[in-house]
Amino acid sequence: MSLSPLLVTGASGHLGRRVLELLLDQGAGPLIATTRTPASLASFAARGVDVRQADFDDEAGLVRAFAGANRALLVSTDALDRPGRRLEQHQRAIRALEAAGVEQVVYTSVANAATSTLAVAPDHLGTETALAASRLDYTILGNNLYAELLLGSLPGAAASGQLVNATGTGAVAYVTREDCARAAAAAVSVRTPGRRVVQVTGPEALTGADLAALLGELVGKPIAHVSVPVDALIQGMVQHGLPQPVAEIYASFDVSTAKGELQEISDGLVRLTGRPPQSVRAFLVANRAALAAA
Ligand SMILES: NC(=O)c1ccc[n+]([C@@H]2O[C@H](COP(=O)([O-])OP(=O)(O)OC[C@H]3O[C@@H](n4cnc5c(N)ncnc54)[C@H](OP(=O)(O)O)[C@@H]3O)[C@@H](O)[C@H]2O)c1
Repeated sequence: MSLSPLLVTGASGHLGRRVLELLLDQGAGPLIATTRTPASLASFAARGVDVRQADFDDEAGLVRAFAGANRALLVSTDALDRPGRRLEQHQRAIRALEAAGVEQVVYTSVANAATSTLAVAPDHLGTETALAASRLDYTILGNNLYAELLLGSLPGAAASGQLVNATGTGAVAYVTREDCARAAAAAVSVRTPGRRVVQVTGPEALTGADLAALLGELVGKPIAHVSVPVDALIQGMVQHGLPQPVAEIYASFDVSTAKGELQEISDGLVRLTGRPPQSVRAFLVANRAALAAA
């Protein structure tokens, strides 16, 4: 049991909320949770969590919101509406964490941000650079793509019999959000002096062909993997109603995959949590009902 106050930002998001639950279950704390919407965390407040309002767009209140924390999980935001906005948010948060006297930060980044061509990577790399320029100790979690993203694409593939993307023969070491939450909870609950980067991946890397075969097995019909040029993929997403910039962000996941940037399998999760990550197969079996939803 830790006696140092632990802070979780973005605590009403899927990841932040789950990290809080894990920390409560392990008796860590005292716990501080910041969010833009404190009312949404009333159940955590009832369990003794100090819930505070904080918005990374509003620097003035951040130092106050972070006051008293010894270690912090800085959850990356989802502000992708304007290039650079999310990085500015994270830079404000890092300044405030420093000013509030926090000693150690855990940050949810992407796999190998420095070399990644993911459209979301520059924000993460900029945040890692800001952390390196601070006086903070930190753990950067190089989270690979969530396995949950597959629940967006596979139901359509199950319905049509074709898994269409632009990943070529590239593979992804998908990791579940639950495992990312476990990694984050483990990293923030131990005082770890110094600075480290831990890649957080699933136990195997799957290609589009692997996913199509696995899906076919789970839904009981043949599924073909069809890799198309990235421009055609973007065009298809726009025709289905996605704004062009959002389609380009998603398409960059496929480009990065095709280049082999997301295939690294790391033992980071085991080192942090002592437990192996869940496989995509086990994750999809547990979510079998969602596969037939399209
Ligand atoms: N590895 C992957 O495949 C993958 C996939 C999706 C997202 N991500 C990244 O991982 C993060 C956590 O994932 P998730 O599943 O929990 O996402 P989520 O449920 O969409 O949560 C979004 C998060 O952004 C925070 N946020 C948004 N605007 C903010 C602001 N102005 N100030 C402070 N916080 C703000 C939210 O905090 P409050 O609402 O509590 O204020 C919340 O924690 C995402 O935000 C994104 O950066 C990674």
